[in-house]
Amino acid sequence: MTNKKISLKEIVSHAKQYGFVFPSSEIYDGINAIYDYGQYGIYLKNNIKEYWWKSMIQINENIIGLDTSILMHPNVWKASGHVTKFKEIFLYNEDTKYSYRLDLLIENYFQTNLNKEKQLKNNIIKYLEKKLKRNEKDKILKLINQMKIIDPNQKKKWTKIYEYNLMFKIPLKEHEPENQNCYLRPETAQGIFTNFLNVLNTSKMKIPFGIAQIGKVFRNEIIARQFLFRMREFEQMEMQFFIHPNQEDKWLEYWKKKRFKWHLSLGLGEKKYRFYEHEQLAHYAKKAYDIQFKFPFGFKELEGIHSRTNFDLKNHEKYSKKRFRVFDKEKKKVYIPYIIEASVGLDRIFLAVFSSSLKKETIKDTKKERILLKINPALSPIKAAIFPLIRDKRLISYAKDIYNHLKVDFLLIYEENDSIGKRYRRQDAIGTPICVTIDFNTLKDKCVTMRFRDKMLQKRVLIKDLKREIKKETSMNKLFQLLR
Ligand code: GAP
Repeated sequence: MTNKKISLKEIVSHAKQYGFVFPSSEIYDGINAIYDYGQYGIYLKNNIKEYWWKSMIQINENIIGLDTSILMHPNVWKASGHVTKFKEIFLYNEDTKYSYRLDLLIENYFQTNLNKEKQLKNNIIKYLEKKLKRNEKDKILKLINQMKIIDPNQKKKWTKIYEYNLMFKIPLKEHEPENQNCYLRPETAQGIFTNFLNVLNTSKMKIPFGIAQIGKVFRNEIIARQFLFRMREFEQMEMQFFIHPNQEDKWLEYWKKKRFKWHLSLGLGEKKYRFYEHEQLAHYAKKAYDIQFKFPFGFKELEGIHSRTNFDLKNHEKYSKKRFRVFDKEKKKVYIPYIIEASVGLDRIFLAVFSSSLKKETIKDTKKERILLKINPALSPIKAAIFPLIRDKRLISYAKDIYNHLKVDFLLIYEENDSIGKRYRRQDAIGTPICVTIDFNTLKDKCVTMRFRDKMLQKRVLIKDLKREIKKETSMNKLFQLLR
């Protein structure tokens, strides 16, 4: 079998054609950077979620889970620094009406102009930082135009520069005073920090321990490109690990290694991942590493591992007047815990898994092409498809019995339309690892044919062994074993 390269356009089109991802509100021409998950998309997404959730809170006895609200008290975002600091600089062209985020424009420029020296890049970043600190935005605009860093899509120069907070404002009442506005949360982390005392009071957790949660977050990303990579509404899976301040380096290294191993366990290949240490830090971070993934458009951030120090808890102490302190038995004094954060976008993992599992193969013997989603069976949306060989009453009845018996344990598909070859191709395209066919021999020997997606090998198994065989092939336990 030979493999052919698949473009991002083909990935997006396959996701739509096979019920994984649809543009939101498509009947009204869609809305920029917002997507809906179709039937197979949500099954795959839920499997990724389940794997993350269990590997955080079930495997680690010192991590517990929470589910906090999207809307929070306005003071949360003042204390967290998001109201004043969660801003980005944008460049704008008044003719085309298009904007672009300055940091992404520069990143894009240096990625497509690889011959530009690292030194030059660093000098430009330093210059920009200096001008930003002094609020000299016009000088930035001048430099960008002098360097001919134009809009890569519209091929036009920039005419304006402005700053913009990425949070969506939600006034809960009409005529709400500006400082009382609520926001759609831009990270799930703050729900964890604001519940820190509740968790301490209601659980047996002692430092070091973690709190994990999965939830929707919202950011008004003006340039949204690259499919699910940069969305306005997306899901985060975040774990905040509370530690003693003198253990910051130890736990940062620990979580870097642990999360890297988790990503490798998905089986997408070690070469697709690398670490990147941030030079420019988010307002809350003291040290930050990205686990980057090789997406179809190059290496980009998949997960962030950050040391947030006691920045958040200290500020919540200040704003709420509650004490976020724990007792240090050795030193006989109280301290505010430090936090190591592991934060990953669920949609980015989805994109990583989906884009690198989609294969176009030419079959050696027949020279025919097939598209398959060579996804880890533990994550596959559908675990097995059950087919009667042809539409014969006796075969249909047998196949339906098997389907009804196994559906309690696995998410299955039953199909009887089209030729068996066409049915195989459809299942390959949505990543079903096993197809089970009931034929006339089944009526005599109580055996069925199992056909495996990747190598297209077939074997006969007794119906009574089918559950064990499917479980062996698709169980998530295989992934957990790789985490040891
Ligand atoms: N609490 C820390 C935090 O939110 P972040 O680096 O801004 O840190 C964490 O975001 C992760 O969320 C990223 O590594 C990425 O996987 C995901 N993410 C961020 N912005 C996103 C967007 N616009 N669309 C999809 N995923 C995004």
